[in-house]
Amino acid sequence: MTNSTNNFLLLLLLFFSGSSNGGELETLLTIKRDWGSPDAFSSWEVRSSISSGYCDWVGVACTNGQVTSLSFQSFQIANPIPASISSLKNLQYLDLSYNNLTGDFPTVLYGCSALEFLDLSNNELSGRLPGDIDKLSLGMLHLNLSSNAFVGDVPLAIGKFSKLKSLVLDSNSFNGNYPGAAIGGLVELETLTLANNPFEPGPVPKEFGNLTKLKLLWLSWMNMTGTIPDDMSSLTELTLLDLSQNKMQGQIPEWVLKHHKLENLYLYASNLSGEISPNITALNLLELDLSMNKLSGSIPEDIANLKKLRLLYLYNNNITGPIPAGVGMMPNLTDIRLFNNKLSGPLPTELGKHSELGNFEVSNNNLSGELPDTLCFNKKLYDIVVFNNSFSGVFPANLGDCETVNNIMAYNNHFVGDFPEKIWSFELLTNVMIYNNNFTGTLPKNKKKYAQKRQQAALYVSLAN
Ligand SMILES: *[C@@H]1O[C@H](CO)[C@@H](O)[C@H](O)[C@H]1NC(C)=O
Ligand SMILES: *[C@@H]1O[C@H](CO)[C@@H](O)[C@H](O)[C@H]1NC(C)=O
Ligand SMILES: *[C@@H]1O[C@H](CO)[C@@H](O)[C@H](O)[C@H]1NC(C)=O
Ligand SMILES: *[C@@H]1O[C@H](CO)[C@@H](O)[C@H](O)[C@H]1NC(C)=O
Ligand SMILES: *[C@@H]1O[C@H](CO)[C@@H](O)[C@H](O)[C@H]1NC(C)=O
Ligand SMILES: *[C@@H]1O[C@H](CO)[C@@H](O)[C@H](O)[C@H]1NC(C)=O
Ligand SMILES: *[C@@H]1O[C@H](CO)[C@@H](O)[C@H](O)[C@H]1NC(C)=O
Ligand SMILES: *[C@@H]1O[C@H](CO)[C@@H](O)[C@H](O)[C@H]1NC(C)=O
Ligand SMILES: *[C@@H]1O[C@H](CO)[C@@H](O)[C@H](O)[C@H]1NC(C)=O
Ligand SMILES: *[C@@H]1O[C@H](CO)[C@@H](O)[C@H](O)[C@H]1NC(C)=O
Ligand SMILES: *[C@@H]1O[C@H](CO)[C@@H](O)[C@H](O)[C@H]1NC(C)=O
Repeated sequence: MTNSTNNFLLLLLLFFSGSSNGGELETLLTIKRDWGSPDAFSSWEVRSSISSGYCDWVGVACTNGQVTSLSFQSFQIANPIPASISSLKNLQYLDLSYNNLTGDFPTVLYGCSALEFLDLSNNELSGRLPGDIDKLSLGMLHLNLSSNAFVGDVPLAIGKFSKLKSLVLDSNSFNGNYPGAAIGGLVELETLTLANNPFEPGPVPKEFGNLTKLKLLWLSWMNMTGTIPDDMSSLTELTLLDLSQNKMQGQIPEWVLKHHKLENLYLYASNLSGEISPNITALNLLELDLSMNKLSGSIPEDIANLKKLRLLYLYNNNITGPIPAGVGMMPNLTDIRLFNNKLSGPLPTELGKHSELGNFEVSNNNLSGELPDTLCFNKKLYDIVVFNNSFSGVFPANLGDCETVNNIMAYNNHFVGDFPEKIWSFELLTNVMIYNNNFTGTLPKNKKKYAQKRQQAALYVSLAN
């Protein structure tokens, strides 16, 4: 700063001393200085005598000339939040996400009595959350502390924020407990995330069933045990329900697959068992992942009613019976992973014709019959993983025109006839494993030479019968 701007600043501060605006200007300049003036604040200079010029500074927003919002995402802020911030009595919105804040939860924010939105996510804050965290403004609507390194318990006082619409605590190191009943009392919540924390094992709090405005509930990887509580059937606004990577037991309750607004349902990698309810009416589902459980019984015919479904993962279960014929007609299904089950019978005819099928993985079942010649109908097929089944017949010749294919694993089947020669020239091809079949036809002349030619793609060819 030059001397003249210094003098100018001094005058300005004198001029406004006592007035709240001058106080806010001073506060902002103090904050900038205390944060070591990172580059992101370079535009923060007093340029004119317009008293509220700072309202136009990068990251600052005012209402009626008073600072109400500070948005400093990715500003490379590494120093602690200065105490002077608490003199911004009208501050409602504070976004400090994606910075390098360290140390404990910043209790200096207790002074910001108008605060409604606080985003401290994606920093390096650590330690326990203070037991008196309810000294933060009780008008809080959104609290996001995700992706830090907080430990210990989530304090009971979190239940005091009765207006909260989102409570985002995922991806920390909380290794104690969270107050389930108190959180269940935050009936305005639309978003609740506690995922990715090594909490003490315990069941889903049944009080969460009172959070009937919830749209997004992310409770993955947090040592949850017990069953999926029927109390949660009241959460009919849910668009995302993620209980994956826990140790939950019992069946998937019938209501789960009937929630009409549900778009993303992730219950994978838990310990769920029993059959998938045959009555599926969650017609807005986009992604359904029930993989890596102990599910048995067959794939319900109703699954084919999910016209919006893009992703169907049921792999690593104990599912028997056929793939319902209707699956071949689903218009948006691009990713099918049903491997490591006990499926049998033929594949749906026209599979791949009605959707842009990309991944098709059904290995380690006892599926039989021919591969439909529609698999690559929409020219998006990437993965053909069908090994360890009882497939027979010829490999569809038109796969020779499926240049998007990267990976073919078809070994341990009963295919006969020519393996489509044109496949060997695909640019994206990296893996072909077709041994233990009765293929005929032309192999790449010299496998070694061929592999060399395609070294970049690291093509792995395994053909030996
Ligand atoms: C903030 O952290 C990021 C990523 O960890 C790092 O690249 C950057 O240099 C850090 N900035 C400061 C100011 O410490
Ligand atoms: C933190 O959570 C709030 C409230 O749900 C959300 O608006 C905000 O986008 C989140 N921050 C990041 C960096 O995702
Ligand atoms: C909770 O989960 C974490 C990560 O899976 C694990 O290390 C920890 O032992 C679990 N805690 C208990 C008490 O099981
Ligand atoms: C839901 O709230 C009502 C009162 O509002 C209470 O009686 C009931 O016990 C709560 N249910 C759960 C599961 O917490
Ligand atoms: C999985 O659930 C079964 C009961 O269905 C139980 O016996 C077993 O201990 C559970 N396994 C784990 C790892 O929680
Ligand atoms: C499926 O559930 C709906 C509503 O929950 C019910 O009306 C219908 O009778 C059920 N259908 C079958 C086949 O169970
Ligand atoms: C399929 O997906 C596309 C794009 O993702 C979307 O525009 C279309 O509406 C979807 N079709 C159905 C039946 O949901
Ligand atoms: C799979 O189901 C069969 C019956 O269909 C049963 O005998 C077997 O124990 C189950 N395996 C597992 C791992 O649950
Ligand atoms: C697999 O299916 C074939 C008929 O498609 C049947 O002959 C065979 O016994 C089945 N194998 C197993 C292990 O179930
Ligand atoms: C294929 O099946 C055989 C026996 O049916 C089994 O031994 C082998 O592990 C399976 N291969 C893979 C990769 O799962
Ligand atoms: C290949 O064909 C021979 C003769 O028909 C048959 O014995 C053998 O089982 C077949 N191999 C496979 C892997 O299908």
